[in-house]
Amino acid sequence: MPESPIRKLVPYAEDAKKRGVKVFHLNIGQPDIKTPQVALNAVKNNKIEVLAYARSEGSETYREKLAKYYKKNNINITAQDIIITTGGSEALNFTFGSIMDPDDEIIIPEPFYANYNGFSIASGVNVVPVISKIENNFALPPIEEFEKLITPKTKAILICNPGNPTGYLYSKEEIKKLAAIVKKHDLFLIADEVYREFVYDGLAHYSVMQESGLEQNAIMIDSVSKRYSMCGARIGCIVTKNKEVIATALKFAQARLSSPTYALIASEAALDTPQNYFDNVIAEYVDRRNTIIAELQKIDGVKVAKPKGAFYCIAELPVKNADHFAQWLLEEFNLNNETVMVAPAAGFYSTKGLGLNQVRIAYVLKKEDLISSVKILKSALEVYNT
Ligand SMILES: Cc1ncc(COP(=O)(O)O)c(C=O)c1O
Repeated sequence: MPESPIRKLVPYAEDAKKRGVKVFHLNIGQPDIKTPQVALNAVKNNKIEVLAYARSEGSETYREKLAKYYKKNNINITAQDIIITTGGSEALNFTFGSIMDPDDEIIIPEPFYANYNGFSIASGVNVVPVISKIENNFALPPIEEFEKLITPKTKAILICNPGNPTGYLYSKEEIKKLAAIVKKHDLFLIADEVYREFVYDGLAHYSVMQESGLEQNAIMIDSVSKRYSMCGARIGCIVTKNKEVIATALKFAQARLSSPTYALIASEAALDTPQNYFDNVIAEYVDRRNTIIAELQKIDGVKVAKPKGAFYCIAELPVKNADHFAQWLLEEFNLNNETVMVAPAAGFYSTKGLGLNQVRIAYVLKKEDLISSVKILKSALEVYNT
């Protein structure tokens, strides 16, 4: 198993903190946004006497309420098209296990969410990357690039929309291009849409579940982690109209018995979160994105793609080895007793040698902290490069 580029430097951050250095965590997508009160109250006010197992696929009421949420988002599905999972992570694991055998291949535009590597290895599946570039803001690579990579072992294409770590939002036209290719070659199109609510600049999210004619190929991965700032709840889901996939994923769900009951209660209640919660959260992220991009662009030699969604960006730095630089930031550098932790981007690629001078930055901290963080980064780069 590969180590997580997001978490592997944690011991160095802990050491820095022990030395009294404040560490700004730009490495991990753990938002500082408050969890909706309705979700917390549902757990606090619950008079449960036996904390029982839940149903393996999640309760009927939760799945029905969830189907209504999707209908509001122009996705026409029913409770039967949903399997509740323990996080989007488990939804990905179940999906990989359900649709692929060891040695099969999955095509993923890179850079991609680093744990896709881990999930693939756990399922014995080989990742075949197709490279997206910072120069094009990480847009969908030309569809011919996908076509060139398809072999008899290819079972699926996986996209993350909006993207972690790129912040790229696929357009309706791009989804249609992918739909055409998966139908032509009889593949699955898995879309990790855990950031589906985080879309900026008046753009609209187009889900693979909205594409008609793709019912047997489309699998959507979702999660409450980011939508409601409930990362610790560990609840997600698989959504697909493909009955065979649902039936197979259910077997995986039965083998692990159920998702955690309190977290399911919180997740179901979270669906009553008022719209103004999201309006405020989106406004906050837009402000943060604008701040971090503007500040990063002021640093000589830094290149950054402007995200249209999610809360990450990839920054190219004037360093040879971002891994070394990120560790050095924690071990040796501080500005007025403060430093920053970033995720070296090489771990978000599966092609060796790519992303070596890039880092992923999560803009999950408040604006003032982001400004301080970039100031630290700027001064660190000056020291590091002299
Ligand atoms: C793109 C993407 N997919 C899946 C996950 C896993 O989320 P969960 O907390 O629901 O397991 C994450 C978490 O950061 C993510 O960024």
